[in-house]
Amino acid sequence: MKLTTHIKRCKKCKELVENRTQVVIGEGPIPCSILFLGEAPGKREDVKGIPFCGVSGDMLEAAAFKAGLKRKQHYHILNILKCRPPENRDPTKCEIENCRPFLLKQIDAVKPKVIMAFGRYAQSFVLGVPPSDIRVLRNAGKVVQLTNAHAVLSYHPAYVLRNRGNDIAKAFDKHFLLARKIVKGKVPKCDAKNVEL
Ligand code: URA
Repeated sequence: MKLTTHIKRCKKCKELVENRTQVVIGEGPIPCSILFLGEAPGKREDVKGIPFCGVSGDMLEAAAFKAGLKRKQHYHILNILKCRPPENRDPTKCEIENCRPFLLKQIDAVKPKVIMAFGRYAQSFVLGVPPSDIRVLRNAGKVVQLTNAHAVLSYHPAYVLRNRGNDIAKAFDKHFLLARKIVKGKVPKCDAKNVEL
């Protein structure tokens, strides 16, 4: 069975399955050198079946565009969870574990050189530490060397949206430039090495 069919038919997380409109698989070219990794679909994403298609998505798209990155062309977008948690609550440990094999297979297909990890849950995934141990703000801007890629740790676009016009937004813009540099082979000193997904 095709991976996307498998994901669409998944019924592992009872509460998510009962409440979802659609499964949000991801978007973008395969393979693709840049992968944007978010948390989980929101209300609009759940209705449209497209990741980051709401206000956070507009902000993300605009920030990426400033770095010369165009949607559907230069980056692939995936989330830790493929289904929307009701009322946008945080993903549970069990839901994250249920979705992980899909995410790993998707990443394997996309073969990114850089993964931009947006927010606590994406950072937790690339660092292999529990979400509660993640210091999102302290980590932002750090580069992690993974087995087959580098990860740039960043803020969640929704957080940046709430901080428009200040240093958070400026730093967010810089994270995209950093990702582009890494794609071009200019890898800065890494803050963590040999992290296995
Ligand atoms: N927030 C996310 O983390 N992912 C989306 O797709 C939309 C909002």
